[in-house]
Amino acid sequence: MAVLSVIKYPHKVLQTKTAPVVHITDTERKLVKDMIDTMYAENGVGLAANQVGVSQRIFVASPDQVKGRELVFFNPRIVKQEGAIKEFEGCLSIPEFYEPVRRAKKVWMRATNMKGETVEVKGEGLLSRIFQHEIDHLNGILFIDRLGFLKSKTARKKLSKKG
Ligand code: NI
Repeated sequence: MAVLSVIKYPHKVLQTKTAPVVHITDTERKLVKDMIDTMYAENGVGLAANQVGVSQRIFVASPDQVKGRELVFFNPRIVKQEGAIKEFEGCLSIPEFYEPVRRAKKVWMRATNMKGETVEVKGEGLLSRIFQHEIDHLNGILFIDRLGFLKSKTARKKLSKKG
């Protein structure tokens, strides 16, 4: 078990698009294990690889926080979405900051699983929000970028003053 340190805003790796995973090897499997340990240690429901400093298209999720039931996705992308809903969101890379974010209500995501198979997963409720939040991470986008121009600007100012 290895708990990695979560990189905090405004680190550049969080604002850089990650690279696709070409092969799932022992290196990726080890990283995924450590990401899952880190997600639970931080009480998070999702974690993207660039949040632990690895700029690759991988994320893990645990909407119900039940160990052993984690979801792991490589090279995920949204293929369809429906509706809109605004709910409070936070991020392990932006501690103690929560704002309502408008997202699609339902999404259909295509990705590769741990076995290297292509899967299509439907996300609703919290899972839909996690999928969109984590895929944003992999594209170098943070939830504070989704608050609308003025709110985003204010958030960035406030957060850069913090540390
Ligand atoms: Ni996040």
